[in-house]
Order: sequence, then structure tokens, then C-alpha cells
Amino acid sequence: MTTPESNDFARDVKKGLSSNPKYLQSKYFYDSEGDKLFQKIMGLSEYYLTDCEFEIIHQHREKLLEAFTGKGQNFLLVELGAGDGLKTKLMLRYFLNHKAHFAYLPNDISPNVLNILKHEMSRDLPGLELRAYPGDYFHALDTMNQKEKGRKVILFLGSTIGNFNFEQAVAFLKELNNRMQKDDQLLIGFDLKKDPHIILRAYNDPSGITARFNLNLLKRINKELDGTFTLENFYHYPIYNPLTGETRSFLISRMAQNVRIGYLDETFDFKMGEPISMEISQKYDNAMIRELAEESGFALEANFYDSRKYFVDSLWIKRE
Ligand code: AVJ
Repeated sequence: MTTPESNDFARDVKKGLSSNPKYLQSKYFYDSEGDKLFQKIMGLSEYYLTDCEFEIIHQHREKLLEAFTGKGQNFLLVELGAGDGLKTKLMLRYFLNHKAHFAYLPNDISPNVLNILKHEMSRDLPGLELRAYPGDYFHALDTMNQKEKGRKVILFLGSTIGNFNFEQAVAFLKELNNRMQKDDQLLIGFDLKKDPHIILRAYNDPSGITARFNLNLLKRINKELDGTFTLENFYHYPIYNPLTGETRSFLISRMAQNVRIGYLDETFDFKMGEPISMEISQKYDNAMIRELAEESGFALEANFYDSRKYFVDSLWIKRE
């Protein structure tokens, strides 16, 4: 039997709901239902991020291969949080057709997602050298560093970095940098500042999938921690601040209510209109991206944009 203290999820939920203002961490969105809802989000026409990155990879696949191989070198193509790997597949197919010498090392926190990916890739891309590394990012990189030899090109796509604030992003990128060798590269996706209406719509789709994605975390607490959240008593409320580039989402309590969480043996009080802060999805400009690279030990090598300049995949190289 695990105690509340030995369970990260329980500990973080307790900490977040005991804080003022209340918050929950977006990294916990991705249980099996959350994975499915995020897949649906990626298919929404309002969620332009995925389409943009597809376009970038398609348009710039030749330049990407050139940049990754340098002077005709082999490389290890590492992907952090590979998910369904659909965008990467586009890149891998091109690389294989052009006889590039590389191995693909996908990582994902979900072993289940990673098994599906492995299965589909070996079916659709014969000849692909693939070794999967489940677990959290740094654990996976540490294991790779023991088992694999070669220059690494790390993919960190989808603007996942946007879930961190600036300070957390620098800390994360420094940790990543520490696990790389000089001249290893990082291709990292950033969603860019643009018309606020377009951004807000991506996080407030009329079909309500994003709302369900957010509310699913309450459902997860009910399931895994014996919680008593009534989902109908909360609603999804996203905002975008064009000054800072921060998109944030909240769940707002429709009424004064108490929620008991059995596993924590605690009851939490909500006021009418009280928010739970759920997620940050930071939008960037070029100055911010350059600063992030510099502060975390990288040099910016190239920027790859989609035709509308909504999104950038930025190629960085480890300085020393
Ligand atoms: C997976 C973190 C890139 O912030 O855009 C999508 C998650 N949240 N819709 C994002 C998400 C709401 C997504 N990332």
C-alpha cells in the first residue's frame, strides 16, 4: 500500500489544492484518457500548432537532414515525449529514403504510447533502427548516455516547453544541456506570439474538447485518489495576455462547494468563482527564444518557420 507521501500525484494534488491560489500541474493531464483527448486536440482545426509543425517538417526536411548530418556524420535522433510520432514519421521517411545513417530513439512517459509507436513505425518504416526509452525525460537520457554511442540530435517538438514559465524553462534546458556533449543539437518547437484571437481559439475550441481535457484531471483525481469532484460544477476558462505571451487556463468553481479527497483524507473548500490554475502555454518571440538558448548553454543555429510564421522549430547546438 502506498502512502500519500510516497505517491507523487497525491502529494502534488494536496500541495496544489492547499495553496492560495489553487493550482494543479498540467503534467498530470496525460493519463490514458488525457492522451486520447490530446490526440483529439491535435486534430482540431482551431489547434493550429500541430498543422504548423507538420508544414515546417515537410517544407524543411532537406535542410533539416543537412543540418543534422553536418559533414556526413551518423547521428542518434532522440525524441523526447514522442507521443504518436506522426510529425516525426514524416521526417524519418525522408531520412530513410535519402540513406541517412541514424538511429531513432523515441522516449515517452507512457510505456503504452511508446509500444504503439514502436509497432507502427516498424510496420510503416522498414529498415528504421529504433530503440525505445520509456520514462521521464532525464531518466531516459541518462540511460541512453550509458547505452548509446554517438552524436545526439534531440527533438523536443510541439511547444511542450511552453508549459514552463521562463525560469523553469531555463532550469529544464540547463538540465538537458548537462546530458549532452559539445556539438550535440536540439530541435525545439516554440509557438509564436500572433493575433490573440487565433491563440485563444486554439485553447477554447467550440466543440469543448479542450474543456474536457482540462476537466479530465479532476476525473483522474476522482479515480486515482478517491475524489468527489462533480465535473459539472466547474468550467474551463482560458485567457491570453498579449503583453507577456502567456496563455493560461483555469477551472472555475460555479458555486461554493466542498470536495473530499479520500486518499488524502482531506476536504477542500471552493468559493463561488474561485479558480484552479491548470496550465501555462507560453507564446514566444525571437528575442525570448534567443535569450533562452543563451542562458541555457546553447547557440542558435537556424530557425525553421511555417509559411504563416505562427510557429518555429529552432535548431540549437551545445556550446561547450
Ligand atoms: C502539449 C503542452 C504543447 O500547451 O498547447 C493543448 C497542451 N493544452 N491544449 C499546449 C494543450 C491545451 C499543449 N502542449
